[in-house]
Amino acid sequence: MENILLLGNGGREHALAWKIKQSSKLGKLYIAPGNSGTATVGKNVDILVTAFDELKYFILNNAVTMVIVGPEEPLVRGIYDFFKQDEKLKNISIIGPSRKGAMLEGSKSFAKSFMFKYHIPTADYLSVNKENLQEGIQFIEKMKPPYVLKVDGLSAGKGVLIIKCLTEAIKKLKFIVNGGHSKVEEKVIIEKFLHGIECSIFVITDGTHYRILPEAKDYKRIGEGDTGLNTGGMGAISPVPFVDEIFIKKVEKSVIIPTINGLKKENIDYKGFIFIGVMNVNNNPIVIEYNCRLGDPEAEVIIPRIQSDLVDLLEGVVDGNLLNKELMFDERTVATVMLVSEGYPGIYTKGKTIQGLDKVQKSILFHAGTRKQAGKIITNGGRVLAVSSYGKNKIEALQKSFDNVKLIDFAGKYYRRDIGFDI
Ligand code: AMP
Ligand code: GLY
Repeated sequence: MENILLLGNGGREHALAWKIKQSSKLGKLYIAPGNSGTATVGKNVDILVTAFDELKYFILNNAVTMVIVGPEEPLVRGIYDFFKQDEKLKNISIIGPSRKGAMLEGSKSFAKSFMFKYHIPTADYLSVNKENLQEGIQFIEKMKPPYVLKVDGLSAGKGVLIIKCLTEAIKKLKFIVNGGHSKVEEKVIIEKFLHGIECSIFVITDGTHYRILPEAKDYKRIGEGDTGLNTGGMGAISPVPFVDEIFIKKVEKSVIIPTINGLKKENIDYKGFIFIGVMNVNNNPIVIEYNCRLGDPEAEVIIPRIQSDLVDLLEGVVDGNLLNKELMFDERTVATVMLVSEGYPGIYTKGKTIQGLDKVQKSILFHAGTRKQAGKIITNGGRVLAVSSYGKNKIEALQKSFDNVKLIDFAGKYYRRDIGFDI
């Protein structure tokens, strides 16, 4: 039996907690810090995901045997290494890569050079800082619009700029490398723009072996028809029709296998999820980005499609025998629609009372930004709730989610009515 501590507080973590709760191998389930959804399936613990010393104290005092890291930040900050270097924590199972492995997400220049080194298809690029700014400008001048600029570090989805005008792109490049963006001089990746349709591929690895999980399509823009600002994600669908057997075989051969082998060659410890953002360009997969965790809201559609025991699978990750584990998928479609606060992804207010949660039928509600206060559930973030539903196809799954979305209410509720429009 495992006493599990899950780190995070989003819809992804509620989906993980919901699934873990169904495991025959679960002892106790704790979520730090969690939300009002995770509180219904486990015990929330009021500790930040980056407070490593406080987490250690809690783990040792509560006989936690397995830690599952939901978001990227603790991984990029080296939580895995913190465990492995600590006498008391080193034998506690931890799901997530080492600090070096998390650089696949935490540093775009690291990810790009890794992909080039291991011949993994990705867009041509140049890494630019103050020293080679002139070379960067010449590189942009030779490209066709639109121009893609990516700030090197973690930036919660706000680090990618897609600019139509050459003069504007050069101006932005100069601005960022000179520290105008974040007060520090930064590295920028200039990348070729890829024309195609994007999908999210998920892999779980024990460092040597891998299993491919269900894929998903996520809707990042705030506005219908994929317009407006980028968000964390406004909805998702799994499976993705164009990710057929032929396409996924191409991803496996050209991306997944060289990624796993590359990590091994570089001596990078990686026991956890790999999320590969892939552009389908004329039926060929080109990698846009790696993330070192599950996606959100992708988790809210792929986790419900995993039929096997997730804790058993994660034990395989830790023990290095992932290939011996049962892994069965639900053939049905799962769609999720995100309810967000008015103003998101810009400025929004919290603390709105959420009504109608008890009216929901035939959908699974995954809480994202919610909190309990004086017996009421109130909004506590930009993304508030993910409404996930099964269906025999995309239309049926979405219909159930949209029917239930209408039953839930809070002041300023917003959602996209066109999730799935392009597939
Ligand atoms: P990211 O923050 O890396 O997920 O990027 C945000 C979004 O920018 C992606 O989901 C893509 O839609 C878009 N994007 C990133 N890189 C490229 C590229 N090279 N070509 C076209 N679109 C891109
Ligand atoms: N939905 C995209 C992400 O989790 O980064």
